[in-house]
Amino acid sequence: MLEKLVIATHNKGKVVEMATSLQEHVRTILSADDIDVPEVEETEDSFAGNALLKARACAKATKLPSLADDSGLCVNALGGKPGIHSARWAELEGQEGRDFKLAMGFIDDKLGKNKDRSAYFIAVLALVFPDGEEHIFEGRIEGNLIWPPSGDKGFGYDPMFVPEGKRQTFGEMEPEEKRKISHRAKALAKLSEFLKTYA
Ligand code: IMP
Repeated sequence: MLEKLVIATHNKGKVVEMATSLQEHVRTILSADDIDVPEVEETEDSFAGNALLKARACAKATKLPSLADDSGLCVNALGGKPGIHSARWAELEGQEGRDFKLAMGFIDDKLGKNKDRSAYFIAVLALVFPDGEEHIFEGRIEGNLIWPPSGDKGFGYDPMFVPEGKRQTFGEMEPEEKRKISHRAKALAKLSEFLKTYA
Protein backbone atom coordinates (compact mmCIF):
# COMPACT_ATOMS: atom_id res chain seq x y z
CA MET A 1 0.00 0.00 0.00
CA LEU A 2 1.27 3.42 -0.99
CA GLU A 3 0.68 6.21 1.60
CA LYS A 4 0.15 9.12 -0.83
CA LEU A 5 -0.02 9.64 -4.59
CA VAL A 6 -0.48 12.82 -6.60
CA ILE A 7 -2.25 12.53 -9.96
CA ALA A 8 -0.66 15.31 -12.02
CA THR A 9 -3.71 16.44 -13.99
CA HIS A 10 -6.66 18.85 -13.67
CA ASN A 11 -8.75 16.64 -15.98
CA LYS A 12 -11.58 15.51 -13.67
CA GLY A 13 -12.53 12.53 -15.83
CA LYS A 14 -9.00 11.17 -15.70
CA VAL A 15 -8.69 11.81 -11.94
CA VAL A 16 -11.92 9.92 -11.20
CA GLU A 17 -11.00 6.97 -13.44
CA MET A 18 -7.47 6.70 -12.03
CA ALA A 19 -8.48 7.24 -8.40
CA THR A 20 -11.27 4.63 -8.66
CA SER A 21 -8.89 2.08 -10.10
CA LEU A 22 -6.12 2.76 -7.56
CA GLN A 23 -8.08 3.27 -4.34
CA GLU A 24 -7.33 -0.22 -2.98
CA HIS A 25 -3.60 0.40 -3.23
CA VAL A 26 -3.19 4.02 -2.13
CA ARG A 27 -4.30 5.51 1.22
CA THR A 28 -4.55 9.17 0.08
CA ILE A 29 -4.93 10.25 -3.54
CA LEU A 30 -4.45 13.94 -4.39
CA SER A 31 -4.79 15.68 -7.75
CA ALA A 32 -3.55 18.91 -9.32
CA ASP A 33 -6.74 20.50 -7.95
CA ASP A 34 -5.67 19.76 -4.33
CA ILE A 35 -1.98 20.60 -4.47
CA ASP A 36 0.18 22.96 -6.57
CA VAL A 37 1.50 21.04 -9.56
CA PRO A 38 3.62 22.78 -12.21
CA GLU A 39 2.20 23.13 -15.74
CA VAL A 40 4.60 21.34 -18.07
CA GLU A 41 4.93 21.77 -21.81
CA GLU A 42 4.90 18.41 -23.60
CA THR A 43 8.13 18.76 -25.54
CA GLU A 44 9.19 15.10 -25.85
CA ASP A 45 8.57 13.04 -29.00
CA SER A 46 7.06 9.98 -27.31
CA PHE A 47 4.08 9.23 -25.05
CA ALA A 48 6.40 7.87 -22.34
CA GLY A 49 8.69 10.89 -22.63
CA ASN A 50 5.82 13.32 -22.11
CA ALA A 51 4.25 11.33 -19.27
CA LEU A 52 7.66 11.21 -17.54
CA LEU A 53 8.17 14.98 -17.98
CA LYS A 54 4.88 15.66 -16.19
CA ALA A 55 5.38 13.08 -13.41
CA ARG A 56 8.99 14.15 -12.75
CA ALA A 57 8.03 17.84 -12.46
CA CYS A 58 5.20 16.93 -10.09
CA ALA A 59 7.39 14.67 -7.91
CA LYS A 60 10.06 17.38 -7.72
CA ALA A 61 7.58 20.10 -6.72
CA THR A 62 5.44 18.09 -4.28
CA LYS A 63 8.09 15.68 -2.91
CA LEU A 64 5.42 12.97 -3.24
CA PRO A 65 5.04 9.93 -5.51
CA SER A 66 3.46 11.30 -8.69
CA LEU A 67 1.47 9.82 -11.55
CA ALA A 68 1.03 11.39 -15.00
CA ASP A 69 -0.34 10.08 -18.27
CA ASP A 70 -0.15 10.73 -21.97
CA SER A 71 -2.44 9.16 -24.52
CA GLY A 72 -3.51 9.37 -28.12
CA LEU A 73 -4.74 7.74 -31.30
CA CYS A 74 -2.23 6.15 -33.71
CA VAL A 75 -3.38 5.37 -37.26
CA ASN A 76 -1.26 2.67 -38.89
CA ALA A 77 -1.65 3.82 -42.52
CA LEU A 78 -0.62 7.34 -41.42
CA GLY A 79 2.62 6.15 -39.85
CA GLY A 80 1.17 6.40 -36.33
CA LYS A 81 -0.28 9.93 -36.67
CA PRO A 82 -1.83 11.87 -34.98
CA GLY A 83 -0.04 10.07 -32.09
CA ILE A 84 1.41 12.46 -29.51
CA HIS A 85 -0.28 15.31 -31.43
CA SER A 86 -3.80 13.85 -31.01
CA ALA A 87 -5.09 16.80 -28.98
CA ARG A 88 -3.30 19.34 -31.20
CA TRP A 89 -4.95 18.06 -34.42
CA ALA A 90 -8.26 19.27 -32.98
CA GLU A 91 -7.02 22.78 -32.21
CA LEU A 92 -8.44 25.46 -34.45
CA GLU A 93 -6.04 28.06 -35.70
CA GLY A 94 -6.71 31.45 -34.16
CA GLN A 95 -9.55 30.14 -32.00
CA GLU A 96 -9.84 28.73 -28.49
CA GLY A 97 -10.99 25.19 -27.83
CA ARG A 98 -10.86 21.94 -29.76
CA ASP A 99 -12.96 20.50 -32.54
CA PHE A 100 -12.73 16.73 -32.83
CA LYS A 101 -15.20 16.60 -35.74
CA LEU A 102 -12.58 18.55 -37.66
CA ALA A 103 -9.73 16.33 -36.45
CA MET A 104 -11.67 13.16 -37.37
CA GLY A 105 -12.33 14.70 -40.80
CA PHE A 106 -8.57 15.29 -41.29
CA ILE A 107 -7.91 11.63 -40.57
CA ASP A 108 -10.60 10.41 -42.92
CA ASP A 109 -9.35 12.75 -45.69
CA LYS A 110 -5.76 11.57 -45.25
CA LEU A 111 -6.86 7.93 -45.34
CA GLY A 112 -8.80 8.54 -48.56
CA LYS A 113 -9.52 5.22 -50.22
CA ASN A 114 -6.86 3.33 -48.26
CA LYS A 115 -8.26 -0.08 -47.28
CA ASP A 116 -6.15 -0.21 -44.12
CA ARG A 117 -8.19 1.73 -41.56
CA SER A 118 -6.62 0.07 -38.54
CA ALA A 119 -5.62 2.18 -35.56
CA TYR A 120 -4.98 1.91 -31.85
CA PHE A 121 -5.43 4.05 -28.78
CA ILE A 122 -2.47 4.08 -26.44
CA ALA A 123 -2.14 5.30 -22.85
CA VAL A 124 1.16 5.54 -21.02
CA LEU A 125 1.32 6.13 -17.28
CA ALA A 126 4.50 7.34 -15.59
CA LEU A 127 4.95 6.81 -11.85
CA VAL A 128 7.83 8.82 -10.39
CA PHE A 129 9.01 8.77 -6.78
CA PRO A 130 10.76 11.77 -5.20
CA ASP A 131 13.96 9.70 -4.82
CA GLY A 132 14.11 9.27 -8.60
CA GLU A 133 12.60 5.76 -8.93
CA GLU A 134 10.57 5.63 -12.18
CA HIS A 135 8.11 3.17 -13.70
CA ILE A 136 6.18 3.15 -16.99
CA PHE A 137 2.92 1.26 -17.66
CA GLU A 138 1.42 1.05 -21.16
CA GLY A 139 -2.02 0.00 -22.39
CA ARG A 140 -3.27 -0.32 -25.97
CA ILE A 141 -6.51 -1.16 -27.69
CA GLU A 142 -6.57 -2.07 -31.37
CA GLY A 143 -9.46 -1.24 -33.67
CA ASN A 144 -10.66 0.22 -36.97
CA LEU A 145 -11.79 3.69 -38.04
CA ILE A 146 -15.23 4.19 -39.58
CA TRP A 147 -16.78 7.07 -41.50
CA PRO A 148 -19.04 8.87 -40.74
CA PRO A 149 -18.38 9.00 -36.99
CA SER A 150 -21.16 7.69 -34.76
CA GLY A 151 -22.21 8.10 -31.12
CA ASP A 152 -22.00 10.91 -28.60
CA LYS A 153 -21.17 9.07 -25.38
CA GLY A 154 -17.40 9.38 -25.43
CA PHE A 155 -14.93 12.17 -26.19
CA GLY A 156 -12.14 12.97 -28.62
CA TYR A 157 -11.82 10.41 -31.43
CA ASP A 158 -14.27 7.92 -29.83
CA PRO A 159 -17.04 8.25 -32.49
CA MET A 160 -14.84 6.89 -35.30
CA PHE A 161 -13.09 4.08 -33.38
CA VAL A 162 -14.54 0.55 -33.36
CA PRO A 163 -12.49 -1.72 -31.06
CA GLU A 164 -11.49 -5.09 -32.51
CA GLY A 165 -14.22 -7.70 -31.96
CA LYS A 166 -16.92 -5.06 -31.22
CA ARG A 167 -19.70 -3.66 -33.38
CA GLN A 168 -20.09 -0.28 -31.72
CA THR A 169 -17.75 2.70 -31.72
CA PHE A 170 -16.35 3.92 -28.39
CA GLY A 171 -18.78 6.82 -28.86
CA GLU A 172 -21.80 4.47 -28.99
CA MET A 173 -20.67 2.24 -26.13
CA GLU A 174 -21.81 2.68 -22.54
CA PRO A 175 -18.99 4.39 -20.61
CA GLU A 176 -18.69 1.41 -18.18
CA GLU A 177 -18.12 -0.93 -21.13
CA LYS A 178 -15.43 1.33 -22.60
CA ARG A 179 -13.79 1.63 -19.17
CA LYS A 180 -13.43 -2.17 -18.97
CA ILE A 181 -11.47 -2.51 -22.23
CA SER A 182 -9.82 0.84 -22.88
CA HIS A 183 -6.12 1.61 -23.29
CA ARG A 184 -6.22 3.62 -20.04
CA ALA A 185 -7.89 0.69 -18.19
CA LYS A 186 -5.16 -1.66 -19.39
CA ALA A 187 -2.37 0.68 -18.28
CA LEU A 188 -4.12 1.20 -14.92
CA ALA A 189 -4.46 -2.57 -14.43
CA LYS A 190 -0.68 -2.92 -14.87
CA LEU A 191 -0.07 -0.11 -12.39
CA SER A 192 -2.46 -1.76 -9.87
CA GLU A 193 -0.53 -5.04 -10.20
CA PHE A 194 2.69 -3.16 -9.47
CA LEU A 195 1.21 -1.36 -6.44
CA LYS A 196 -0.06 -4.68 -5.01
CA THR A 197 3.55 -5.70 -4.53
CA TYR A 198 4.57 -2.31 -3.15
CA ALA A 199 5.37 -2.63 0.56
P1 IMP B 1 -3.84 13.79 -23.35
O1 IMP B 1 -3.49 12.38 -22.94
O2 IMP B 1 -4.65 14.50 -22.31
O3 IMP B 1 -2.64 14.56 -23.86
O4 IMP B 1 -4.86 13.71 -24.57
C1 IMP B 1 -4.54 13.10 -25.76
C2 IMP B 1 -5.62 13.19 -26.80
O5 IMP B 1 -5.76 11.87 -27.31
C3 IMP B 1 -7.02 13.58 -26.35
O6 IMP B 1 -7.25 14.95 -26.48
C4 IMP B 1 -7.88 12.83 -27.34
O7 IMP B 1 -7.89 13.55 -28.53
C5 IMP B 1 -7.08 11.58 -27.63
N1 IMP B 1 -7.55 10.47 -26.79
C6 IMP B 1 -6.88 9.88 -25.77
N2 IMP B 1 -7.62 8.90 -25.22
C7 IMP B 1 -8.79 8.89 -25.90
C8 IMP B 1 -9.98 8.12 -25.78
O8 IMP B 1 -10.16 7.23 -24.92
N3 IMP B 1 -10.96 8.41 -26.66
C9 IMP B 1 -10.85 9.37 -27.61
N4 IMP B 1 -9.79 10.13 -27.75
C10 IMP B 1 -8.75 9.90 -26.90
